Amino acid sequence: MFFLTTAIDYTNGSPHIGHAYEKVLADVIARYRRLRGDDAYFLTGVDQHGQKVQQTAEKEGVSPAEFVERTTKKFSALWEKLGVQYDGWAETTNDLHKDCVRKILTDLKEKGQLYKKAKKDLYSVRQEQFLTDRDRNEQGEFGPEWGEVVEIEEENWYFKLSAHADWLKNFIETTPDFIEPAFRKSEVLNALERSPGLDLCISRPKSRLRWGIEFPFDPDYVTYVWFDALINYISFAGYLADPSTGLPNFDQLWAKNDRRPVHIIGKDILVPAHGIYWPTMLHAMGFADDKIPQLLVHGWWNIRGEKMSKSIGNIVDPNELADKFGVEAVRYYLVRDIVTGKDSDFDLDRLIMLFNTELANELGNLCNRALNMSQRFTGGILHHGGPLQDEDLALQKSLVDSIAAYQAAMDDYDISKGLEALNRHVVHCNGYAERQKPWELNKNPENKDRVSTILYHFAESVVHIAVLISPVLPEITAKLAEQLNLPGLTGFQLDDLKWGILPDGHEIGKPKPVFPRIVLEEPKA
Ligand code: MSP
Repeated sequence: MFFLTTAIDYTNGSPHIGHAYEKVLADVIARYRRLRGDDAYFLTGVDQHGQKVQQTAEKEGVSPAEFVERTTKKFSALWEKLGVQYDGWAETTNDLHKDCVRKILTDLKEKGQLYKKAKKDLYSVRQEQFLTDRDRNEQGEFGPEWGEVVEIEEENWYFKLSAHADWLKNFIETTPDFIEPAFRKSEVLNALERSPGLDLCISRPKSRLRWGIEFPFDPDYVTYVWFDALINYISFAGYLADPSTGLPNFDQLWAKNDRRPVHIIGKDILVPAHGIYWPTMLHAMGFADDKIPQLLVHGWWNIRGEKMSKSIGNIVDPNELADKFGVEAVRYYLVRDIVTGKDSDFDLDRLIMLFNTELANELGNLCNRALNMSQRFTGGILHHGGPLQDEDLALQKSLVDSIAAYQAAMDDYDISKGLEALNRHVVHCNGYAERQKPWELNKNPENKDRVSTILYHFAESVVHIAVLISPVLPEITAKLAEQLNLPGLTGFQLDDLKWGILPDGHEIGKPKPVFPRIVLEEPKA
């Protein structure tokens, strides 16, 4: 079982292109794993507690519950629009999740992992957390990301993070597949090095924050939002749950799975939340080292080198983009123009250019050649044709090479490289067309067999490419399956991709362009 999750999005605002990227990336990986023959289970959802939500709801004059219900819908509606197909949906105000968090708190307390203590400390109101020297920047100051920093004296519950610092350091150093890409490992190790002795404050007094999960053994407190949110990955996977709840079977997804679950997260939430708190929490709960999930850490979409932010006013709205350019153009761009793990600059001109060149021109042209020419030259019937020439064999080899490169890249979560590998074959096919010129050959009836062979090579290539591109463009694949008159294509797996899928005499359906060029209206003078 391939169990993957994304970060759960804060519901104190609206989804932007960064949230959309992460969900599309996860969706593409889940769909690809299914192509690969794996059973994949994809969990995503929303993070609904915390001070920010309480504050924004207050400002808007509604209860936090009403507020999160409204904002949650914006996220789920967008995922539906973008074709993000998840199997499990996590909402942290769900009672089943709250039960799980309380059971974990009780269990950790019984295991001696929690203690209560009064402490005077610096606190970031914006980030809802106590600050340590680790959070100071190179100038020794707290940067603007922390907002207002105040000193607070408070009695709180603490989790003994420091008791496991040596275990964590050793785990990170000896587990090469824990953090992907590997270069991010040092960020966690450096953070550990700077403050190995710190424990984690996991409660907030109700006098300050009511919108959270109440402590099971101390009703004056609610649970710190990160401690609550991280637990979603196991609570919605059925951890400690009764089968009557309808939650998944935890053994199948996690405890007895021979593959680590994969958490897809942005680089900003690696340290400290996912790289330090989460593995330590799991370890303290009793999870074995081989049951600690893998972290796939992606980079950020920026705008002209700058962070997207409400205050700068440069937020890109995925809803608007999808309405304007189509859902699949957006999906394609979001995984094509970024290397997983690195940052990228969002650029509308590149979205249009990549769609128009790689999809409308190259792949669109190949589909047109396979479908339209077959309709016109051979009455829509495909034949294996005559003896193969070197050019035909070279085309078949190009396909085999492309599939191998695609698979290696996709296994490595490098979607952009995978798509590049497919494009190489499409470009090869179009070059083959230009050299073979079936439209010229077709003028002489003696070339009938040769024309059939060439058209068959186009059509067979389209079948393969349609399957391989389906994790990114599922709707377009379905349209191509219809036009190829091959309904089974949408259920194909990688193992089914052997040359000769289309039988001799196969009749294709009615061709219809699936990649209309994006043409922007000229601005009015
Ligand atoms: N609620 C926490 C995560 C809790 S997980 C137990 C959170 N939410 S968030 O809404 O701020 O971010 C959700 C995800 O979106 C994070 O993985 C974050 O890195 C990602 N992105 C937010 N802005 C982004 C970009 N500009 N680009 C790419 N992804 C970014 O953090």
